Amino acid sequence: MSDPTEQGYFTEENSAGVVISRNANAKDPRLSEVMAALIKHMHGFVKEVEPTQDEWLQAIMFLTETGHKSDDWRQEFILLSDVLGVSMLVDAINNRKPTGASESTVLGPFHVPDAPERPMGSDICLDGKGDKMLVKGRILDTEGNPVARAKIDVWQTNDDGFYDVQQKGIQPDFNFRGVFRTGEDGAYWFWGARPRSYPIPDDGPVGKLLGALGRHPYRPAHVHYIIDAEGMETLVTHIFDPDDAYIHSDAVFGVKQSLMAEFTLVEDADRIAQEGVDAPFYEVIHDFVLAPA
Ligand code: BEZ
Ligand code: FE
Repeated sequence: MSDPTEQGYFTEENSAGVVISRNANAKDPRLSEVMAALIKHMHGFVKEVEPTQDEWLQAIMFLTETGHKSDDWRQEFILLSDVLGVSMLVDAINNRKPTGASESTVLGPFHVPDAPERPMGSDICLDGKGDKMLVKGRILDTEGNPVARAKIDVWQTNDDGFYDVQQKGIQPDFNFRGVFRTGEDGAYWFWGARPRSYPIPDDGPVGKLLGALGRHPYRPAHVHYIIDAEGMETLVTHIFDPDDAYIHSDAVFGVKQSLMAEFTLVEDADRIAQEGVDAPFYEVIHDFVLAPA
């Protein structure tokens, strides 16, 4: 048998080797490497689990349903990758940061690329709901220098726990979204509402799987950021509320100790007047350190 793609008949014992060698003429070496690892691990998985025919069909029907549930707005496969911890593992592998740089976390499916650029200090709450929150800090490099002209793209749910894109026609477009640009001092600040924990979409096969596994679908309260600046690595991250009930059981494993922020209630009358609001508000001060590109 000189043809490397013909390694004899398939048996239970040699299954992975026979399939992998059939792909010996793959043109792309990376595809070949990826498929060989996939086949090796899948055959190993099947040999460990020994599924019945019915169980295998159940797995296929689950993936079929996951595809059927997905469209331009709903990505059930991303949710599946998220709840299995795979999204966070891919994120960790691709974002090994130098010492001192802020850590990344999962992007999630609710970022929109065309959120409006707003003047620094704007309120991204367009529906008037929730407890007022002022978020501020600086964008720095790993030497502690301010990063000028950094683009800060933020988004969060409204006080009912939904992103605007989940409630089109109910929430104003771009509610709780904004893009801000730092000046020479690297400072940023904007108003929002204190975030709340919310469930990831759980009305599909992934939600059913979570239920069957005895898991809840909640993410602890957070605000999303994508921070971009010339010569710097893009940072995709969140800040989290450490007092949230779900902080130790995020459905998608996105929490990191360094991403905890402090949500301080400001009740001082002078500060309230100074900020131009008429009631106590929450204040969050959080700096981000960007790694060099
Ligand atoms: C989010 O935080 O927006 C999110 C992340 C993963 C899955 C669902 C939502
Ligand atoms: Fe989120």
